[in-house]
Amino acid sequence: MANTIVLGMQWGDEGKGKIVDLVCPAFDAVARFQGGHNAGHTVKFGDRHFALHLLPSGILHPKMKCVLGNGMVVAPDALLRELESVWSQDVDTADRLFVSDRAQVILPLHATVDQAREEARGAKKIGTTSRGIGPAYESRAARCGLRCGDLDAADLEARLEVQLAHFSPQLASFGAPLPTVPEMADLCRSWNEALSPYLANTVFLLDRWIREGSSILLEGAQGALLDVDHGTYPFVTSSNATAGGVSTGAGIAPTRLTGTLGVLKAYTTRVGAGPFPTELHDDTGEHLRRRGNEFGTTTGRPRRCGWLDLVAARYSAVLSGISALAITKLDVLDELPEIEVCTGYRYRGGELDHFPSDLAVLDQVEPIVRTFPGWQTSTVGLLDAADLPSTARDYLRFIEDQLEATVALISTGPRREETIIVESPELDRLLGGRLAPVLAERLPEA
Ligand code: GDP
Ligand code: IMO
Ligand code: MG
Repeated sequence: MANTIVLGMQWGDEGKGKIVDLVCPAFDAVARFQGGHNAGHTVKFGDRHFALHLLPSGILHPKMKCVLGNGMVVAPDALLRELESVWSQDVDTADRLFVSDRAQVILPLHATVDQAREEARGAKKIGTTSRGIGPAYESRAARCGLRCGDLDAADLEARLEVQLAHFSPQLASFGAPLPTVPEMADLCRSWNEALSPYLANTVFLLDRWIREGSSILLEGAQGALLDVDHGTYPFVTSSNATAGGVSTGAGIAPTRLTGTLGVLKAYTTRVGAGPFPTELHDDTGEHLRRRGNEFGTTTGRPRRCGWLDLVAARYSAVLSGISALAITKLDVLDELPEIEVCTGYRYRGGELDHFPSDLAVLDQVEPIVRTFPGWQTSTVGLLDAADLPSTARDYLRFIEDQLEATVALISTGPRREETIIVESPELDRLLGGRLAPVLAERLPEA
């Protein structure tokens, strides 16, 4: 059995949804532990296509139990809409979806605050997804938040009063509309009716499943460099997207976790503002955006594109104890004559040996790059590492060496079927010895 974390190693959109969906057959349950509907996880298989925001990517596997952990911020209206959407695509969620009664509620007020603050920042805006994520986590830290289990609390109005008082001076100063407590309370009670069948104390649920011998997959959202503590603060999200977030956000003790599979895109993208040392502002950047279809799953915004940054990836590997890698979107590099990868940062005549915490430094570093010849042949849909061009294999081996982690999965297209699985003891360990069902579901018709 294994309780394994799947995390993004960059600024999000690494292909976590695809990888989680692929490895699900080795697990009995999948849990999200942070973030909210700022996430956009795409899953494709056969002729099916799903964009998930709050529901774990395991929801598409009929027997998989799915948990929204206590570390999440949940907009009940968004969750109910997403459920309607998957039901309309013939996904049965009955008796297998569990929402932590401790997860924080995102109220419309939080989204209003998020948008008004971004507008007020003008050129200095973070470029949030405007979903109210930051203000909802702020309510939690300020101890005035409402949790999913509080939606029908006897003192609901009094709690909402405190929450409103927390934000109303700022909203009033922006001239933004203020909701009334009775209308907020009506909304909460109607949400409670729809949500209550799913509410559970998910800590004890997960504990029971683990005791019974189940394997749990922990699905990260965002990426290490968007982590509120370790990322490029303040251009980050408001939760812990690194492995440390699992124990607080799902209530699973560190001693029960098996390890972390890091998802690393073969190049880098970022949505929103903030430093990005390997960003490309030229035709190559445009090529990556077009060929990689780099437009936000949640907001539709074009993603900023650049070369793979191994300084950043080494930092992510350290933060989350990453021992195995899923390299995604290798096929997007297929047409390039040359591929660069950043191996170090030059700063004021010297070389930095780690990812700096000071953004003023990160903004000024000059990437030290190594150039690989491109393979200029299609890798789309390849299923066997032996079929990869030798130049692509060299590129992957270099990443493996630099990050001291095994390349376990190589994604060669958006669909579940388009993935190379590289068998190794480390992959076997992270899958709790259950590689066979993963292989079987990758190509169900074979
Ligand atoms: P996530 O947020 O980490 O789950 O990633 P997103 O779903 O937001 O973005 C990844 C995008 O790349 C989605 O459109 C996927 O369908 C697509 N994708 C994932 N893996 C591959 C791959 O190996 N090749 C290509 N071409 N597209 C991929
Ligand atoms: P997935 O799970 C990419 C970015 C936003 C913004 C910053 C803060 O699909 O990888 P927030 O709304 O969270 O307060 O925004 O974080 N961001 C993401 N970027 N993928 C995501 O999720 C993201 N979730 C948040 O663009 O820069
Ligand atoms: Mg995404």
